[in-house]
Amino acid sequence: MPEFQRPRGTRDFGPAEMAKRRYVEAKMRETARLFGFGEVMTPTFESTELFVARSGEGIIEELYAFEDKGNRKISLRPELTASVMRFYVNEMQNLPKPVKIFYFGNCFRYERPQAGRYREFFQLGAELIGAPSIESDAEVIALALATLKNLGLEDVVVRIGHLGVLNKFIDEFGVKKDTQIEIRRMIDKQDFESLNTLPDGATANKDVNDRLIKLIRLKGGAETIQKARELMDGGDPSLDYLADLLDRLNAYGFDNCQVDFGVARGLDYYTGMVFEIDAPSLGAEKQICGGGAYTLADLFGGQEVNSTGYAFGFDRIMLALEKSGVDVPSQNLEIYILPICDEAKIAAIKILSELRNAGISADMDLMSRNMSKAMKYANSVGAGKVIIIGEKELAEKSVTVRDMKTGEQARVLISELNDYL
Ligand code: HAM
Repeated sequence: MPEFQRPRGTRDFGPAEMAKRRYVEAKMRETARLFGFGEVMTPTFESTELFVARSGEGIIEELYAFEDKGNRKISLRPELTASVMRFYVNEMQNLPKPVKIFYFGNCFRYERPQAGRYREFFQLGAELIGAPSIESDAEVIALALATLKNLGLEDVVVRIGHLGVLNKFIDEFGVKKDTQIEIRRMIDKQDFESLNTLPDGATANKDVNDRLIKLIRLKGGAETIQKARELMDGGDPSLDYLADLLDRLNAYGFDNCQVDFGVARGLDYYTGMVFEIDAPSLGAEKQICGGGAYTLADLFGGQEVNSTGYAFGFDRIMLALEKSGVDVPSQNLEIYILPICDEAKIAAIKILSELRNAGISADMDLMSRNMSKAMKYANSVGAGKVIIIGEKELAEKSVTVRDMKTGEQARVLISELNDYL
């Protein structure tokens, strides 16, 4: 047993896994670029106060929080929205609007680890700051959906809700603020049982409660909005807003969004539209994305500004791609060169360098292995082709090229090798 193990809830990633992750990351970044979002990077740790200001003291339980050597209260970031909005308030408030930014980074939450839930995980997220909310909301959801489409991840459920609808019901209860927060938590967890036995005399209004439970169970297409209107005595502006949002998403080419009034997002700092994306193949930890409209800049000492954003759980995207059988390339070594006699080694190095200079990834046998062992190695590193150079090949100024997928072999003149490959 080795003496040291990695900390609970963390992972090591080997070269094959990293190649896959980098490939997926690059595709996700590319989609953000297509939508006009620019990448930012913020520190891995921030003052604990930043996260407390955003979510309340309760958040400390979930944080990797500590005091540094200067007695400053510091936490590893549990997500990046707070950092990005702090950065915005510090340095970006005067930029022309809208500010469209995205990020990729590791996050830390002191959670109970399980499949798809880690203590160190990665998020790729986007924030759109300073545009009227319906335009931002549509653009941001469209970016999330386009990202998944470009990855080939089709088997997803997109659920969009609006806190205005829930808030209207909660107002009708006429309960204290603490109880309101409690009710929101219950909605978030879909804890219908507790909703029936609310503290604070809220159960008195059984009609409101029944209608609320019916509402948060409503899920479906645009027709769901009509059903909600009936439960809300004719409607609410947030219902019209959702209908307009769906029209916009249709115009973007996305007609697969569901309305779901049960999306409450823990109600941390969100103010209007909220959305979540699930990959049902992942089971319990199926939520691969969450986001919505919020205001944070004012809380951090800046001017109030409309913002909408989301974050993908990158690790869950990787799991979902694997479950859906989407082909993600794991290795990118194109050529492995095998000199099978000492005399061939100089020729091998020359070919190796030429291939690398031409932008083709190439490696060569450094262990003086025999043919069968070298082939096994080439296979294990996922080489596409193996170039074999022996005495016969040297004499003819040629090489043997073996395609590792088909097993086909061809003798190729060294002078024609680049064209052949
Ligand atoms: P969140 O829902 O807390 O939102 O996290 C976003 C995603 O991160 C989740 O949907 C999930 O896929 C992934 N995730 C969360 N915790 C873990 C974990 N322990 N292990 C693996 N994956 C995890 C936010 O973080 C907001 N900042 C999103 C946002 C951006 N809202 C507005 N802008």
